[in-house]
Parts: sequence; structure tokens; C-alpha cells
Amino acid sequence: MRLAVNIDHIATIRQARQAREPEPLLAALLAEQAGACGIVCHLRGDRRHIQERDLRLLRAVIKTKLNLEMAATPEMSAIARKIKPDVVSLVPESPAEVTTQGGLEVISQRKRLVPYIGQLKRAGIRVSIFVDPEEKQIAACREVGVDLVEINTGKYAEAAKEKERAKHLAQIKRAAAYARSLGLEVHAGHGLDYYNLTPIVAIEEISELSIGFAIVARAAIVGISRAVQEMLALIKR
Ligand code: PXP
Repeated sequence: MRLAVNIDHIATIRQARQAREPEPLLAALLAEQAGACGIVCHLRGDRRHIQERDLRLLRAVIKTKLNLEMAATPEMSAIARKIKPDVVSLVPESPAEVTTQGGLEVISQRKRLVPYIGQLKRAGIRVSIFVDPEEKQIAACREVGVDLVEINTGKYAEAAKEKERAKHLAQIKRAAAYARSLGLEVHAGHGLDYYNLTPIVAIEEISELSIGFAIVARAAIVGISRAVQEMLALIKR
């Protein structure tokens, strides 16, 4: 199973101060060096973290694959066709949300999504949909012509009680098997961390995980001693 690293929250830290660092491109290169199979970033309509400049730099420099998460809007389609990421992941987006709130509602948008996805594919971009673990939604993903799906693990990750978590895990397993049976490549992500990951890794049909927040949060903690030591060394000098 491969790991793609989402670097949005490196940009969140930078944007909190409207500063020049931390540089998402540098984080992406280090993630690649550490073994990530790809870099994921979400260009939001409100540009709260990743900027178009980051996308251009990532496209030019990273050596693995670039997966651009975006809402299915005309603006984002034009940007994607210009930048040409390896994969576009279509996600629902609402301005008030702290993070993506669930999978895309595909069934009711089938008519609109077919030409939207067709245009991206003609530009040479593989297309994925972030989808809840529901067979009906996954069947609709197949119908609208995507190459792969990313199953939303958010509800599984958030479940407070063991019984509830087991229910969501079973849904993810069923959904992954169903998506594979339709010939789709299956990825998964959202809310995965160092504590809830293992049962997801055991699902054979899932070939790639997309993880962001937990890795950036852990990096801040494991990096703090060194960052303080470096500052103290400067003070002492
Ligand atoms: N997959 C999708 C579609 C997402 O929107 C996100 C969050 O940007 C992730 C995966 C990664 O989630 P997390 O940051 O919780 O690891």
C-alpha cells in the first residue's frame, strides 16, 4: 500500500502569518525523499492554504505524482488543465467548513460530471472522486467515467465508540471490494492517523492512502526539540 502525503497544512501555517515559510514545496520534497508515492494538495476557492503559486512550483519540481484536490467548478477545471497534475480528486467544498465534510454527492450530479470529467481526461489528467463508502455512490462514480475513487474514511476516523468504528470499517471494506469489482483503482483517506491506520492498511483492495493533518501535526511535535536547539545555538553564538 502506497502513501501520498497531503501538504495543505504546511501552507496553513505559512498563511497564518502571511509569511514566506514554511515552504510547502520543501515539505513535498522531503516527503518524497522519505518514501511518499505522491503529493496531494487542495486548492480551495478561498485560497486559505495552498496558492496557485504552490501548485506551479510543485508541478515543476516534484518527481513522484501530483494529486490536486479541488471542487468541480469551472475555475478549478481551467487551472487543472493549465497545471496538468497527474490526478485530480474531485471533492465537495463549502466555504464555512474547517475540512472536507464528506464524499461528493455523485448521483444527483451525474449529468454535470460526465462532461466535466471528460474534459479533464482529454487534457491527460486521471480523475478521482472522493466518495463515501456507499455502493450507490460508487456505482455512479463508475458511470461518470473516473479512473479511481478515494473512499472517505472520515466517519470511521471520527467514531468515538468501538462498535460504531467497526460498522464504518465494515462499510469501507465492502465499498473497496465493490469499487475494485467495477474495475476502479481504490484509494482511501481523511482523518487517518497513527492510531486508527492499521485496520485500513489490512484492506487489500486499497492501494493508496492520502494522509495530511496527522503527519503535519506529528512533524511539528517531533521537530520541536531540534528547532529550539538550533535557536539556542544561534543565541549562544
Ligand atoms: N482526502 C481528501 C479528499 C481530503 O480532502 C483530505 C483533507 O484535505 C485528505 C484526504 C487528508 O485528510 P487528513 O488531512 O485528515 O489526513
